[in-house]
Amino acid sequence: MRSLVFAVAAALAACGPSQPPASEAPAPTETAAPAPSETPEVLAARAASIASLPAPYNEANYEAGRRVFAQCRSCHTLEAGAPNRVGPNLHRLFGRQTAFAEGFTYSPALQGANFTWDAAQLDNWLANPRDFLPGNRMAFAGVRDETQRRDLIAYLKVETAAE
Ligand code: HEC
Repeated sequence: MRSLVFAVAAALAACGPSQPPASEAPAPTETAAPAPSETPEVLAARAASIASLPAPYNEANYEAGRRVFAQCRSCHTLEAGAPNRVGPNLHRLFGRQTAFAEGFTYSPALQGANFTWDAAQLDNWLANPRDFLPGNRMAFAGVRDETQRRDLIAYLKVETAAE
């Protein structure tokens, strides 16, 4: 159900006349109308999921996070059973030990890291992956803006748990 919502939202985001496809959009500038399939139940479940995060992530903006995820989408899928791309599938990210995706060949750095993913660890990783875990192979400079990271983490919380 959520992946359907996501697909609809992505399709809507991609259909402006001069906009590139969502997967290529580098900057989070679009204003997205809520997808028609965002029922009260879907919105309530989403709000509950974000509220379960510790502060300040529990105050995050899902829609803003969805736009920040445009920077990750070419390399990562979030849905159950979706393929690994350049980066691993991130389904069920929260609470998992590093290097958890089946069938993905990780760097020794990520394989040897000894922690589980939560909002705070994701925040450190996404701010500056290279400094946080030297030797990792994620070719991504980082999300500098704290609010963007907070929103992105809430979006990941919702979407990586969707069935
Ligand atoms: C250019 C491709 C690319 C981009 C862009 C990218 N990643 Fe990654 N990501 C990777 C690769 C490759 C790895 C595995 C790195 C390794 O093995 O050292 C990874 C690993 C991860 C992991 C660790 C997964 C695990 O199993 O422990 C997380 C979490 C993650 N990325 C989140 C993100 C998020 C969120 C974004 C967007 C802000 C992003 N990545 C952008 C390629 C990418």
